[in-house]
Amino acid sequence: MANEESTDSDPFKDPRYAGFPSGFFDRVDQSPDQTFYSEPRIVTHIDPGAIAAVGAFYQELNLGGSVLDIMSSWVSHFVNAPNNLVALGMNATELAENKQATSWVQHDLNLDPKLPFENESFDSVVCCVSIDYLVRPLEVFDEIHRCLKSGGVFANTFSNRCFPTKAIRGWSQTDDRGHVSIVGEYYRLTGPWNNVRAELRTSPSVPGDPLFAVWGFKN
Ligand SMILES: C[S@@+](CC[C@H](N)C(=O)[O-])C[C@H]1O[C@@H](n2cnc3c(N)ncnc32)[C@H](O)[C@@H]1O
Repeated sequence: MANEESTDSDPFKDPRYAGFPSGFFDRVDQSPDQTFYSEPRIVTHIDPGAIAAVGAFYQELNLGGSVLDIMSSWVSHFVNAPNNLVALGMNATELAENKQATSWVQHDLNLDPKLPFENESFDSVVCCVSIDYLVRPLEVFDEIHRCLKSGGVFANTFSNRCFPTKAIRGWSQTDDRGHVSIVGEYYRLTGPWNNVRAELRTSPSVPGDPLFAVWGFKN
């Protein structure tokens, strides 16, 4: 009988995952993501200060033109929405509510990491507070690299909150510094990416959710 755990263990078939400990990409809840995300959550996952930090970060990167927001929901956090914003996520009701998105796609990246887009179709790709849910992150990073135009940025932002049963164990079992290292490792093992950088984008002296960014540019 098929074991549901085999889905999350698939990454180990790709030799690039050899450096990650066994069980790193397993999750407490290994049931299909479709089940967990079937009910819309019209909520925010980080506080207003962290949301403002995401918007300010996107402005600083000067994101515009054609942008893909992966693992998206009803908000994409842009201060000024790009001309063309494609939101990709799990819940159709949430995605249809996204006022900044010009189009949306329901797609499970853990079932199928292949993105349903042409090569070099986006100027930028963003992922906000969600990278910790990917069980095949390297394949997804490969696909983002394929879909980005040369010089385009892939910008990840995250905080210290998550759906604990759906985050990969490797994420749940480490701290902020470890999270930055994990995302940095995804860039190192894929690409090639240029100028990969990480930064705390909120002030450590202001109470509230911290906002970390890790980003890199397609070579
Ligand atoms: C914490 S929410 C963040 C939503 C949004 N990015 C934001 O900033 O508010 C996690 C999101 O990841 C998406 N997600 C989770 N698992 C996914 C998967 N396997 N494939 C695609 N998207 C997924 C869900 O649709 C959900 O909207």
